[in-house]
Formats: sequence, structure tokens, C-alpha cells
Amino acid sequence: MKKIKGCVPCLFGLEALVAEELRKIGAEEVRADNGRVYFEGTPETFIDANLWLRCGQRVEIVLGQFPARTFEELFEGVRKLPWEQFIPEDGRFPVKGHALNSKLSSIPACQSIVKKAIVRRLEGHYKRSVFQESGMLYSIRFSLLKDQAVLMLDTTGTALHKRGYRPAAMPAPIRETLGAALVSIARPYPDTVLYDPFAGSGTLLIEGAMLARNMAPGLGRGFISEGWALFPKAHWQQRREAARAAAKKEIPFRGIGSDIDPKAVKMAEDNAKRAGVADCLEFKVADVKDFKIETPRGMVVTNPPYGERLLEKEQAQELYRLMGKVFLQEPGKRYFIIAPDADFEKLFGRKADKKRKLYNGMLECNYFQYFKY
Ligand SMILES: C[S@@+](CC[C@H](N)C(=O)[O-])C[C@H]1O[C@@H](n2cnc3c(N)ncnc32)[C@H](O)[C@@H]1O
Repeated sequence: MKKIKGCVPCLFGLEALVAEELRKIGAEEVRADNGRVYFEGTPETFIDANLWLRCGQRVEIVLGQFPARTFEELFEGVRKLPWEQFIPEDGRFPVKGHALNSKLSSIPACQSIVKKAIVRRLEGHYKRSVFQESGMLYSIRFSLLKDQAVLMLDTTGTALHKRGYRPAAMPAPIRETLGAALVSIARPYPDTVLYDPFAGSGTLLIEGAMLARNMAPGLGRGFISEGWALFPKAHWQQRREAARAAAKKEIPFRGIGSDIDPKAVKMAEDNAKRAGVADCLEFKVADVKDFKIETPRGMVVTNPPYGERLLEKEQAQELYRLMGKVFLQEPGKRYFIIAPDADFEKLFGRKADKKRKLYNGMLECNYFQYFKY
């Protein structure tokens, strides 16, 4: 079968992880670019990507790419694409997009040209001029970058970080996709005890447990393309069953989370239950000043408060000093901390063994990694 081209947008800095995840599910021609990863695969690869990707934002089909310096070029380029292979007669097909460094810069105008060109193509195929758009959703995105148009069809719907276990979150929660990335980079062993002394809604430990137990993060939610002709419901069901069977409940993973706020602890416990990992996680109310790794070996993965306002910044810096005192440098103990502070290492009191630039939303952060002793 002819391979379909795909694209997974992701947070800057996570491209290599997403590429690794795509290769693991059998995607081919995997190529990382700035904030996105391209690949090729069968319809099953696309279903698996939605079910299994921990660090990507969504899974898109790349329908075509062509130069578009004028509205005519945009219209003709879009009209030439085989839309009828994807959009049925009753499909709803809203168009969204963005433009950067391109002659065509008016988004509403481009949106309307793209829509008209798709309608023209479908008119020719379905032999009708009015489309009710009452059926399934086919969400189309275009991007114009340096006069190159790329047309994409979203297969995901609600972004992949919404796994379904976190209906609400405490203030400043970390995105599930970034949480999964932080744990993946730390590479815990199957029997590592994972700690998060600023657990908030529990995201890092929940993602850690799902990673250790090989649980597909998308199993608890639905996707926009379930039931498309290209991705029939029966295929989804079969891939879901395969994903369920791949989970390894017997892995001796443990996670210990704490937070100073009792409301956060309750929320983390509820989220862990919804994610199906409550049996290997424990949460308690505690101040980080009393933190210690209780087991002979352990790994801390955490995102402490950042303190973006002046007063809070001083409080956050005080916490970084405190962490330096309680995160003891001892055999078998490793620490991974994401923070935006340029002075973090100075306040913490030790130079990181490794650093990696990552973005928490729009905020540039560093992932400070301490694994030597
Ligand atoms: C940035 S949030 C962590 C968010 C978390 N990763 C999540 O996904 O929800 C920081 C957390 O640190 C907690 N916190 C603040 N000061 C603390 C302290 N002294 N000891 C322990 N936890 C504290 C806050 O209650 C908050 O939940």
C-alpha cells in the first residue's frame, strides 16, 4: 500500500524524542525539523501514533506542498490535491492556517481561497455544487512559510496532551507531553523509584508510571479520525486492543509525590486513579524542606514553582537554595529539575552534569540534570 506522509508538531526541543517515538511504532522516513517531525506510514501507523505518542502535539496527514506566491498559485495548488480521497460528500471541512515570511499574509483571505479550491475539487468529483457539511469533521490546516504552502489534515482533534485523566489542574500545571518528555529524558530503570516533591496535579509521576508500564497514553480518549473511511472503527479497535495487551502491569515501578498544598495532593490522587496507575503511586502533603529520598536508589523529576513576578521570584529562589540542601548528592540518587532561572545552578549550589534547553509553553527553560556523585 502507498505510504501516507505525516507530520507531528511538538514543543521546541522535543523533536528528537518524538522522532524516536515514531520510529518505535514503525514509522518510516522520520525527519525532525523545527518544532515538527515528518514521517511516512500506513493508516495503522497514524492510528498508533495517536494512541502511543507521549511527546507530540497532534498527528497530521501532509496532503501536499507547493509554492504559493499568489492567490492563483494557492488556489490551483490546493485544487490539484486529491481531497475526495479523504473528504466524503457530507464531510465538514473547516480550514485554519497561518503564514510567516510570505507574500500571502492575510489569513482570512487565504482561508477562503483554500476553502473555495477544495469545494471546486469536490464539485467535480461528487457532481454537486452545494455541500451540507453535516457529517464527520475533517479539520484542514495550511501553513505558508517563505511562500511555500503545506496542506494538512488533522487526525487527532483535541491535542494529544489531553490524555483524559486530568479534567482540571492546579495552577501552573505542566503539559502532559512535556511531563512525559522530562521523564523520558531522565530514563528511569523499570525498578526506579520516582519522586516529585512539587507534585501539583501529579502529571510527572503519572506520565512516569505510564512510560514504565508501557501504557499507551491515548487509550483513555477519542480521536477525530475514528471512523473515517481511511481509518475505520474496526482498525482503531484492533490497534486499541493491541495497545492494551502491550501494557506491563507487573513492572515494579513506584512513584512518590508530595506537595505543600492538600488540594493538589487530592487532585493528584484522583488523576492517578483516572489514569489507571493509582496502585503504584502515593501522594502526601509535605514541605520540600523535609524532603528526602527514602529508598536506597531514587530519581527526582520535578518542576518547582518558577516565580515569574518579583516577590514570587525571590520565594522561588529561596526554594532553589533549599532544594540544593535536601537533594543530597549520594550514590544511586539522581535529580532532574526544569526551571527557567538563569541563576538556578548558583542558587542550587551545584553545576548540572548536563543541561537541555526546553520550552514550557512560551517560557524558555533549562532541564538541569544531576546524575554524578
Ligand atoms: C509548578 S507547580 C507543579 C505542577 C505539577 N508538575 C503539575 O503537573 O501539576 C509547583 C507546585 O509546588 C508546590 N509547592 C510550592 N511550595 C512548596 C513547598 N515549599 N514544598 C512543597 N511543594 C510546594 C505548589 O503547591 C505547586 O503545586
